[in-house]
Amino acid sequence: MQTTEQTHLKYKDRINLGSFYTDLKHVDTAWEFIESHINNNFVVLDSSCGYGNFLQKNINCRKIGNDIDSIAISTASNNIKDIHLFNYNALENVNRQKYNINENEKLCILGNPPYNDRTSIIRKGIKQINFNIDENIKTRDLGVSFLRSYDKLNADLVCVLHPLSYLIKKTNFNMLKDFSRNYKLIKGKIISSGSFKQASKTMQFPIVIALYEKDENGMSYDYIKNFNFQIEKDLFFKQNNFDYISNYIKKYPNKYAQANEDSVLFWTMRDINALKRNRTFIEKTSSNAIIVDKTKLDYYIYVDVFKRYANHIPYYLGNCDVIINNKLFLKFKKYFILDSLFYQPQLRKYYAKFDFSQTHYKNLAKEKINLYLKQLLGEHYAN
Ligand SMILES: C[S@@+](CC[C@H](N)C(=O)[O-])C[C@H]1O[C@@H](n2cnc3c(N)ncnc32)[C@H](O)[C@@H]1O
Repeated sequence: MQTTEQTHLKYKDRINLGSFYTDLKHVDTAWEFIESHINNNFVVLDSSCGYGNFLQKNINCRKIGNDIDSIAISTASNNIKDIHLFNYNALENVNRQKYNINENEKLCILGNPPYNDRTSIIRKGIKQINFNIDENIKTRDLGVSFLRSYDKLNADLVCVLHPLSYLIKKTNFNMLKDFSRNYKLIKGKIISSGSFKQASKTMQFPIVIALYEKDENGMSYDYIKNFNFQIEKDLFFKQNNFDYISNYIKKYPNKYAQANEDSVLFWTMRDINALKRNRTFIEKTSSNAIIVDKTKLDYYIYVDVFKRYANHIPYYLGNCDVIINNKLFLKFKKYFILDSLFYQPQLRKYYAKFDFSQTHYKNLAKEKINLYLKQLLGEHYAN
């Protein structure tokens, strides 16, 4: 079996359709996940199949592929023989009949639907989605709409790749609606978006190869917080194993607070990937400025330092809030303050007792902060 790279689309269309085809390694993982859950009576459907990379497997199940991109579908028909192909918009008029699947057939959805935020500012200039989406599955992210379409198809099993943020960011999780009410995650392996050949290498985000099973109790956000995601053979990540900065300081501005000349200002905090892109302490007020509660200044300093050392944080924590071990931080606090004050001299007046006279303090702070991070992250510490 050989998977194929997408070659027929221009950059703009590739972004619009989210056409980043999946390579064999990830396709194999998905098949390993489903193999013990399906049998010959199952229908396997990839409703956004591209050239059909997920459907090349030699099995006795009925295989169905679909894509909105007609050129992709004609390539798939040349690549794969034992398959039924359709050229529909998978998000409009979602039902089994359009793929000739009976209501009583067992259905497994497999694939890598497009994920892109229809409202994202970064790519506003080129993004232009021009197909209809059924009202009952419409959201601002195409990938979430795809997950919801699988619920409308009443799939028994779903094994797809999607951004980890759909599960671990509360606002995204809430957009899953009926999908989270009717399906439960039973297996999840995290991979990096950087492992896709045509994707950006500069800002990598975590993608999960996720296996969901129909379940009358569905899954709660708490369930996800306690879920063990696999990273490597013996390496797992669970959100609840960490404590987060949002338990100590506010991440968002208070609309009604007015800054004055004594205010210390900080940029809105989102996840770790956003922190890498954004500033921390800022001079000018704006709708994104948090007015720092000075009794908690140490924690804002923590975030400022965390940003500078973010290269030690693994990519799969990119969608989490800044993590912290408070007890340990209190022990190491003076080094964080030292480090931050080297870069933020305007804050020195709040720490009048601190001595900056010794040049080696900067290196000492660095050494101690690394020690803190190693203890905070344990096996997740990235070199
Ligand atoms: C991430 S690619 C995955 C392709 C293939 N499953 C693979 O992994 O190699 C996403 C695919 O979704 C298709 N697509 C985007 N919007 C669609 C829609 N509304 N209906 C059907 N397919 C769509 C794109 O044309 C693209 O082929």
